[in-house]
Amino acid sequence: MPAVTEAAPAKLNLALHVTGRRADGYHLLDSLVAFAGVGDVVTLEPGPLSLRIEGPFAAGLSCDDNLCLRAARLAGADAAITLTKNLPVASGIGGGSADAAAVLRGLSRMGHPLPARAERLGADVPVCLASNPARMQGAGEILTPLPPLPAIPLVLVNPGVAVPTPRVFAAMDRRDNPALPPIPRFAGPADLTAWLAGTRNDLEPAALTIAPVIGQVLDALRATGAAFARMSGSGATCFGFYDSPDRARIAAAALKQHGWWAVSRELAPLPAPR
Ligand code: C5P
Repeated sequence: MPAVTEAAPAKLNLALHVTGRRADGYHLLDSLVAFAGVGDVVTLEPGPLSLRIEGPFAAGLSCDDNLCLRAARLAGADAAITLTKNLPVASGIGGGSADAAAVLRGLSRMGHPLPARAERLGADVPVCLASNPARMQGAGEILTPLPPLPAIPLVLVNPGVAVPTPRVFAAMDRRDNPALPPIPRFAGPADLTAWLAGTRNDLEPAALTIAPVIGQVLDALRATGAAFARMSGSGATCFGFYDSPDRARIAAAALKQHGWWAVSRELAPLPAPR
């Protein structure tokens, strides 16, 4: 059987409200989740279970207890896995969950059915399995697929500070915020931006207390012309929307001057390389 390659696109929480807390400590979320055309890549080949990590952010990761291996074990499958880590780790854009979901998708193409309860690998694994826009509720396991979102030029920026998700949740003041307003079908970028203005990322203030540089990133996105800027997930990656792909490219180049990781892409699913 030939090698199977799957894209693991970056997940963006365009809006994320924290609406409560479960008895087991996990938080109830209400989030508009989208995917950007940049991501890690997972390749699976037949063979005993193994993992090799390469790519620009490989150094931040250990092969020992990586979510890719845990995903294969949950699916009861063997494969020689290569993970090309293009995205910064522990950065609020899916990371390990996106990689685990890509392993599960690849294994299903190799004949291993998707395991039940994939959310046990990570709260973002279910939404990353489809990698399509969705409203995500519960602790991440309740998904409502949404129609395609407008293809907005955007920039992702990460200042190189790993922000541990549990610390951000623990630093929150309020856990009983209102749900998202109804999500309409967005006719274009202006429509989506106007709707987002009435929403929040409830993790942003807490993440700012842990990593104040996130405030500088948001200011810098706005200073380079972003019509809208927000942090994704528990941070520290932030995104900004721009009027044109050229403006996004120029902004990304300027943001890199701070020594930050920055890429310009579109808000769209990354077509899976086959
Ligand atoms: O599921 P995942 O491993 O991504 O979650 C990491 C941590 O984030 C959890 O251990 C928990 O502290 C926090 N979390 C949460 N509520 C969620 C998702 C994550 O409290 N819905």
